[in-house]
Order: sequence, then structure tokens, then C-alpha cells
Amino acid sequence: MARLAGRTAIVTGGAKGIGRHYSKALAGEGARVMIADIADGTDLAQELDSRHGQGTALSSVTDVSDESQVKDLVAKTIDSFGKIDILVNNAAMYVALHEQPFIDIDVALWDRVMAVNVRGSFLMAKHVARHMMKQRYGKIINIGSGTTFRGIPKMAHYVTSKGAVVAMTRTLSRELGEHGICINTLAPGFTLSETVVADNPEHVNTSKAGAIQRRALKRDMHPPDLLGALVFLASSDSDFYTGQILAVDGGAVNT
Ligand SMILES: NC(=O)c1ccc[n+]([C@@H]2O[C@H](COP(=O)([O-])OP(=O)(O)OC[C@H]3O[C@@H](n4cnc5c(N)ncnc54)[C@H](O)[C@@H]3O)[C@@H](O)[C@H]2O)c1
Repeated sequence: MARLAGRTAIVTGGAKGIGRHYSKALAGEGARVMIADIADGTDLAQELDSRHGQGTALSSVTDVSDESQVKDLVAKTIDSFGKIDILVNNAAMYVALHEQPFIDIDVALWDRVMAVNVRGSFLMAKHVARHMMKQRYGKIINIGSGTTFRGIPKMAHYVTSKGAVVAMTRTLSRELGEHGICINTLAPGFTLSETVVADNPEHVNTSKAGAIQRRALKRDMHPPDLLGALVFLASSDSDFYTGQILAVDGGAVNT
């Protein structure tokens, strides 16, 4: 049975990498999906329409750090789908970042990482929550990272930004609960997304072996490993679950 039949979702960063898998998984469970990314998601929207029926998916080229673009995205989603039940805050600067000592990180890069990873998630939640409040139901899934538990070196901007996402999730859960809205952090371990493999082999080299060694389940992690947890957080199965971190990493950290 489709667990998200009749639901509508926005997936930020939904055109590429792990986000592309999230978009497909939500559509596969019956949701209509707005794919929002700085990359063009037209091909994916067409693929989802042909697989699940016309009107399943739309795409929007949107920079989540820009409030006017976020407002336009939310308005377009409401115009097209009539409501928003699920928000997946997945867009982030991750693969684009190269490891460097924190004393070498430029202020401009630091600020850009915070603008996309933290402000972007805030802006999306801010403008989507208004609509969720009216219907007294919603699911916000913020994508964190296992790096926040260990504080990996040479990614200080990224790790700090994902720590902020966890804190934001907790504080927003206290405001959103009375409106029937659940908000949680999904924290993946090191995942061999198509984008990290193709675009950041240096990071794969430093992370892959250690990630397996730290896990209880000793193997590589791939995007499909996250989809069961994603659908759980997006569906009514998690209606009494909010403000939490759900770590999916083969048992590397125990939350
Ligand atoms: N791959 C991993 O090991 C791993 C581990 C933990 C958490 N994560 C998180 O999972 C998510 C996806 O990771 P990924 O491996 O697919 O990396 P990725 O860098 O390929 O994914 C980021 C996505 O966000 C989009 N994006 C970037 N800036 C944007 C902006 N300003 N506005 C809108 N979209 C923007 C990108 O085009 C891309 O689709 C990220 O939040 C990442 O931090 C990844």
C-alpha cells in the first residue's frame, strides 16, 4: 500500500545525489513531489510522471538561501498541488566542499555554507510551516550528518552548519508541536552518493574505510539505505515522533 498517497512533498536538493533518491522514494509511496534544486530537475520530474502518472512531480530551479526564491517555490507548490504535507530539507553545500584546516577557511566560504545549510533550512521551514499550520499537519525532515557526533577534522564549516540544523530542529519542534507538525533530523553516515563519488573523490578516500570500520554493520552505505527512515519520518507512522535525531549509519553512533 502506498504510505504517502494523497500527500505532497518538497525535496530541496532533490535533483541530484541522495536527494534524487528521496524524490523517487516519496513518489514511489504515492506522494506528489516538487523537486527544488539549483540543478535542473526536469528530467527527474518527467521520469516520475511517466512512472507514477502525469502530475506526480514538478521541478523548480531554486536557491534555498534566497528568501524571495523560497517564497516563489512555496507559492508555486501550493498553486500546483494545493497543499504541502512534507518538507525534506536536504539541500546543502557538501560535495562542493574540499577538506581544509579551519584556519584556512575564508569568511566568504564560511558564510556561504551557513547561508545554504542553515539559513536555507530555516527559510524553507519558515515559509512551508505557515501552510502546514493551517491544515494542522505536517512533516519536516531536516538532513543532518553523522559528522556532528564526532566533529570530523577539516570540515569545520560543514560540521558546524549541520550541528546548527540539529539545534534548530529541536527548538522548532517546541513551536510546531501545538500545530500538529513533526520535525526531525535524519542523520546519515558517510554515504556513497553518486555526487560524492563523482565530484569529491578526495573526501571518499579519507572517509570510506574509517566509516566502515566504525560501523556495527561493516559495509559501505548507499542512498537506498536511508529510504526506509525517510518514509517513516514522512508518513503517519511517525506522528508521535518529533524533535529527534534519527541516525542511519549502520550503527556507527548510538543516539
Ligand atoms: N553523502 C554523505 O556522505 C552524506 C552524509 C551525511 C549527510 N549528507 C547530507 O545529505 C544531503 C545530500 O548529500 P549528497 O551526498 O547528495 O551531496 P550533494 O552535495 O550532492 O547534495 C546537495 C544537493 O543540494 C543541492 N544544492 C546545493 N546548494 C543548493 C542551494 N543553494 N539551493 C538549492 N539546492 C542546492 C545540490 O545541487 C545537490 O542536489 C546533504 O544535506 C548532505 O550534507 C550526506
